[in-house]
Amino acid sequence: MKVNEKDIIQLPKNFDRRGNLSFIEGINHIPFKIERTYWIYDVPGGEVRGGHAYRQNQEFIVALSGSFDVSLDNGMVRRTYSLNRSYYGLYVPKGVWRQMQNFSTNALALVLASVRFDPEDYIYDYSLFTKLVKDAKL
Ligand code: TYD
Repeated sequence: MKVNEKDIIQLPKNFDRRGNLSFIEGINHIPFKIERTYWIYDVPGGEVRGGHAYRQNQEFIVALSGSFDVSLDNGMVRRTYSLNRSYYGLYVPKGVWRQMQNFSTNALALVLASVRFDPEDYIYDYSLFTKLVKDAKL
């Protein structure tokens, strides 16, 4: 799995003096059907979220407010993306280790997911993750 600049997806922007508007359609703007939406908020300074990979779940992460960083690691390359605008987001393919950090005050992370919540889909052990990558099982 590659981790590169193509993971950042620009969203439609409707600029309007009454206020701007952006939107996301599953399959159209992001490469999966949206099965679940969750959001992360009220993150205390210095906290880290994530630190796991998914076997099947794909995600799309948008900083609706404030800013934070997302690190993607495919087992060989780790790349960190800064998200700080509500008109683009980061695509997280399945089988990638992901971590979120450096949350600003009032940061609001919107996460669209391709599967319903399933604890069995999580890989929390980094050495297991790298082994699965090495064995081409992810
Ligand atoms: P987790 O995915 O580990 O959060 P993060 O990756 O941001 O650190 O989820 C934290 C807790 O919330 C965990 O107990 C599972 C629960 N949870 C749900 O019940 N449904 C969901 O859709 C998500 C994303 C998490």
